[in-house]
Amino acid sequence: AHLRPAIIAMDGPAASGKSTVGYRLAALLDFLFFDTGVMYRAVTWVALARGVDIQDAEAVGRLAETVELDVRPPRAGEEDGRHCTVLADGEDITWQIRAPEVDRQVSVVSAMGRVRRALTVQQRRIGQAYGAGTQEKAGIVMVGRDIGTVVFPQAPLKLYIDASAEERARRRHRELLARGKAVSFEEVLADMVRRDRLDSERDLSPLRTAPDALVIDTTGLTPDQVLERILDLACARLAVN
Ligand code: DC
Repeated sequence: AHLRPAIIAMDGPAASGKSTVGYRLAALLDFLFFDTGVMYRAVTWVALARGVDIQDAEAVGRLAETVELDVRPPRAGEEDGRHCTVLADGEDITWQIRAPEVDRQVSVVSAMGRVRRALTVQQRRIGQAYGAGTQEKAGIVMVGRDIGTVVFPQAPLKLYIDASAEERARRRHRELLARGKAVSFEEVLADMVRRDRLDSERDLSPLRTAPDALVIDTTGLTPDQVLERILDLACARLAVN
């Protein structure tokens, strides 16, 4: 089917499968894949690396306003399993932002108003350009926590990707083991539950299902099955006849 250029908003909790499926959906539709979580992770990593006090909302906010973030598709020679390349002031930090220390601190950073404002401005600029189909891509799949509720409440297709906490912890645990990180399942589950709570209970742009979002529970489904469902929805919603 031929789809009109659009913003597809995909929100959901950590390890719900939204990045895996969003990435593949974007590839199939020739849309840009844009994971907004990497921006919050990048600010967190840069703050830690530069010794900025992670509790100091003004200092971290200033950093978010001034650090130059570049999130782009991997180039030739960069294909090492990454979905995008993340640069901060020109430095490739694609893998650094996956460190457990960033996992632990990113909820604090993403609860800061000044940080959210700075990053939301950039996300809207990218979404507007790619969602209009004026760039080299046919549209954009934007993944995060507040895309359908805050960043692009007018997005023509909003998906909320969910899964049980146990299932998400199993997936994240497998990922970490595959990358050689020795952590217990119980530890991963506890971190997951803690981060879910922080992300959904914060005052600013908490993780919420937009009233008009289509909810997909991926518990027990393979990425192929989820993708098939989403493709059907995208075709139904965005097809040009
Ligand atoms: O999806 P992720 O685990 O990479 O996201 C990292 C953190 O960033 C997560 O704890 C919530 C936050 N985040 C957010 O607050 N808003 C977004 N649009 C995306 C991520």
